[in-house]
Order: sequence, then C-alpha cells, then structure tokens
Amino acid sequence: MLPILHSFSTGHALARAAAQVLAECARQAVGDHGRFTIGLSGGSTPRALHGMLASEFGEAIPWDSVQVFWGDERWVPADHPASNARMARETLLSRVPIPEGQVFAIPTDGETPEADARRYEQMLRTAFPGATWPAWDLLLLGIGDDGHTASLFPGTPALTETERWVAVGNAPVEPRERITLTLPAINAAREAWFLVTGQSKRELVGRAFRGDVLLPAGKVQAQRATVWFVDAAANPGLT
Ligand code: 6PG
Repeated sequence: MLPILHSFSTGHALARAAAQVLAECARQAVGDHGRFTIGLSGGSTPRALHGMLASEFGEAIPWDSVQVFWGDERWVPADHPASNARMARETLLSRVPIPEGQVFAIPTDGETPEADARRYEQMLRTAFPGATWPAWDLLLLGIGDDGHTASLFPGTPALTETERWVAVGNAPVEPRERITLTLPAINAAREAWFLVTGQSKRELVGRAFRGDVLLPAGKVQAQRATVWFVDAAANPGLT
C-alpha cells in the first residue's frame, strides 16, 4: 500500500484539515462498528490538532463512542511536564466530553518500565479482545530528528520486537525510558497518520515516505492507509 502525502501552507491549515478528516473518520468508524479507537502521539506537533479537535470540530466527533490510547509514553509521572498524557489532557481531553473510562493512558507508576509495558499490553488485549494485533481505527504519529516514531529509536531492541504489542523504548535524550508500541502493533492500525511540520524534517519525510527502512518511521505501513500531513516547510517536494 503506497503512502499518501498531503501538504498544507501552514501548520494551522494542516491541523484544521487533519481535524476535519479525523472527525469524518470517527463518525464513519462509529457507524461501521460502534466505536472509534485512536492512538495519540506525543511531542509538540499534535498540540495544534488537539486544539482544533477541542474547539472547531469538538461537536463533530461522537466522543461518547471514542476510545483514546497512546502510541508511546515517557516513563515519568502522569503530571510530569514531559508526559504525553498530560499534554493530551491539557490540550484536548479536559476540553471534550469523553468518558474517563474511555481514556487508556499508558501506566507509568509501576515498579519498572518493563512492568508498565506489560500492564499496558494487558489493557490493550482487554480493549481488543481476541485480536492478534490491536486494530486501531487511527494511529497518530510523528517523526523525530533521527527518524524515530513513537518511541522506536534507531538501533534499539524495541524496534526489532516482532511478538509483543508493547515494549520498553530507549531514547538517546531525556526522558530516556519510554513505553512504546512495537512496529507490528503500529502497523496493525487501519490507518496511520504522520503529522510533520518544519524544514528540519523535510529530508526525513522524503526518506520515510519512500520507505527507507533505515528510519523507524520508514517501516510504518498501516493496513489501509499511511498518510503524511506536512506543512510546506516539511514537504519534500514529492509529486
Ligand atoms: C514522543 C513522540 C515522538 C514524537 C516525535 C516528533 O513521545 O516524543 O511520540 O515520536 O512524535 O519525536 O516530535 P515533535 O512533534 O515534537 O517534532
């Protein structure tokens, strides 16, 4: 399945377009199978999308049928400034009527990252009963300056995991300990969307879009569609 690339003049235009399509996807999924399961990404890029989902498109999404997960998390307390769940709660989840029982934050209060990876995998297996792999309707992703995605960093054991749904990630920067979906768990999603802005990512987007498997992001191939939402600065100029 070839990836798709959509380019937008600004990050704001990108966030607005992604929110609009996401709202349509949510309604479609709820109509088709009664729920919309989405995995959120960390980092800073998703903030603009979250803002759109909480405001202009808030009423277009059937929040009572949405289940929220994460693709990865830093192994820090839930109220830590670097927590992906904290960022999502501040920018989106505290501003929309999603039932708390439908928000599945990655646990980070266990004895070890490994123990919390096991806990999260058990949560996922409960949310996707009997599934071989967790089939999210949509998984949101970013790409780091080294081509990582979620917390699958180049040259790390989590990147080569083929059996487990969740693994411990090792980042080269603080917070170094992470909990992350594995590549087969990411690729089990019906759709995976990369949201990328900024000139610094342009070359990486071009390589990952073409499937350069030296980059973890280049190894993402969702079941139905892998879509890149980029702003003009991050657009590698692909036709
Ligand atoms: C994280 C993310 C990570 C992120 C990229 C891009 O926990 O940091 O999951 O994979 O998506 O590092 O981050 P930016 O959006 O901040 O560029």
